[in-house]
Amino acid sequence: MKIISIINLKGGVAKTLTADNMAHVLAVFHSKRVLIVDNDKQGNTSKMFGVHSYDDKSISDVLTARRLDIHEAIKKTRFEGIDVLPANMTLIRANLEVMMEIVPARNKRACGPRWTP
Ligand SMILES: Nc1ncnc2c1ncn2[C@@H]1O[C@H](COP(=O)(O)OP(=O)(O)OP(=O)(O)O)[C@@H](O)[C@H]1O
Ligand SMILES: [Mg+2]
Repeated sequence: MKIISIINLKGGVAKTLTADNMAHVLAVFHSKRVLIVDNDKQGNTSKMFGVHSYDDKSISDVLTARRLDIHEAIKKTRFEGIDVLPANMTLIRANLEVMMEIVPARNKRACGPRWTP
């Protein structure tokens, strides 16, 4: 499994578009199974793939729940080979909880089995 991160402090420089298009190219042209981890509270990628919601589990739960199987938060999309771990505005609170160490450090918590394509 390869992990590709699209990171830049500057806003509006096409991080989201790059990630979403790269996922599409990898899935469609290279027959890869892709898990997009939306780590942006704006949830633009989650919206793009039609999995944005406040009713279901999101990356916030993965970051803060004491025990959670990550598969409970991962959503299938209508695109073959592309799954999304969605984000929404609750990520503001989740990030604060992690930074303030209100929840135990992520590397010391069990989040269930890794994502398997
Ligand atoms: N190659 C491109 N050609 C034209 N417009 C583009 C291109 N890449 C991105 N854009 C536009 O630029 C804007 C910002 O892109 P995007 O949302 O991907 O940036 P971002 O870095 O994720 O922003 P943010 O920091 O707000 O998350 C969007 O309106 C997008 O449609
Ligand atoms: Mg973005």
